[in-house]
Amino acid sequence: MMETELTRKLKIEYPIIQAPMAGGPTTPELVAAVSNAGALGSLGAGYLSPEQIRNAVREIRQETDRPFGVNLFVPEQPASTEADIAEMNLYLNKYRVKLGIATNPAIPKFAESFEEQVQVLLEENVSVFSFTFGIPPQNILQSMKQKGIFVIGTATTVDEAIALETAGVDAIVAQGSEAGGHRGSFLNSRADARIGTMALVPQIVDHVKIPVIASGGIMDGRGLVASLALGASAVQMGTAFLASVESGAHPVYKQKIISSNEASTEVTSYYSGKAARGILTEFMEDMRFYERPVPAYPIQNALTRDIRQAASKARNPEYMSLWAGQGLRLARDCTAKEIVKQTVDQAYRLINNVGKLRN
Ligand SMILES: Cc1cc2nc3c(=O)[nH]c(=O)nc-3n(C[C@H](O)[C@H](O)[C@H](O)COP(=O)(O)O)c2cc1C
Repeated sequence: MMETELTRKLKIEYPIIQAPMAGGPTTPELVAAVSNAGALGSLGAGYLSPEQIRNAVREIRQETDRPFGVNLFVPEQPASTEADIAEMNLYLNKYRVKLGIATNPAIPKFAESFEEQVQVLLEENVSVFSFTFGIPPQNILQSMKQKGIFVIGTATTVDEAIALETAGVDAIVAQGSEAGGHRGSFLNSRADARIGTMALVPQIVDHVKIPVIASGGIMDGRGLVASLALGASAVQMGTAFLASVESGAHPVYKQKIISSNEASTEVTSYYSGKAARGILTEFMEDMRFYERPVPAYPIQNALTRDIRQAASKARNPEYMSLWAGQGLRLARDCTAKEIVKQTVDQAYRLINNVGKLRN
């Protein structure tokens, strides 16, 4: 046991949350394995249909009776023009030709219905609802509260953390700029400020009363102890679990995770229309020559989907999105249970050693 305010509230043994990772990595097997190991597994359900969410939640429940979280994307109203969308769709044809798939596809559905996704979480009465990209409407937060569902929002600045606390969430993920995947920023003024985890966590801790979860670049017991020292009540680790045995990440993606280093990633908006950190690819480099506005999320995400899917079928990582954080050299390809155990054991050793500094 390693008790903090958050472990008590979430009824988990260790202050470790396996980050929700939409797009395949967070399989029901991974989520259940993490929860069974005493941490909190989370399903990244942002891209899943309501039916797929229900099935995944039920699969997780067959493998664990412990708490786990489900994560959704708060919808946005993209302001891109028809002309910008059509222009991008046309431009992307050069990658479609390269990958041997149909050019000029019809513009697909942008995103799943958030309200219907939320409905499934309420009906299935999940333990934890986490979200990113904004703040859900009050009626949704109230329905979660009425059901006793623990609600976690994502902040990348102190202002966003205060806005989330004011809206009534139960805890906040402080997402530093080292983090893999999409930036959770939603207050436009300083969206590209990209504060590092070390600087962000204590400043958020000082400005809110609810528990704070440190996230971004945390890969092992050292990151866990450092985060607790900064005032966090838990950590949320994504990249650390990406190459695990239970992760659903594509084998080529896992290989890239294991063979990359701290300098391999960049933040890009070219895949989805929203800033996200991933391993640098040919697609990211080549798209720099695109001079017109990139359609906003989730439009660009929908436009590049056929390209990413074709690349994944062809085992070609250069046109896949390889989201990953800056802690890459510390990623391991062992089981999720081993990652949790090694993290906890290392943290215990460190806490003892740090204690000895005072003589
Ligand atoms: C592949 C991948 C997918 C992600 N998808 C989500 C997601 O669906 N929802 C979310 O809130 N955060 C998502 N994140 C961000 C994580 O919650 C977390 O902030 C990040 O993984 C922390 O940094 P780290 O990867 O260095 O541990 C994703 C991260 C990665 C690497």
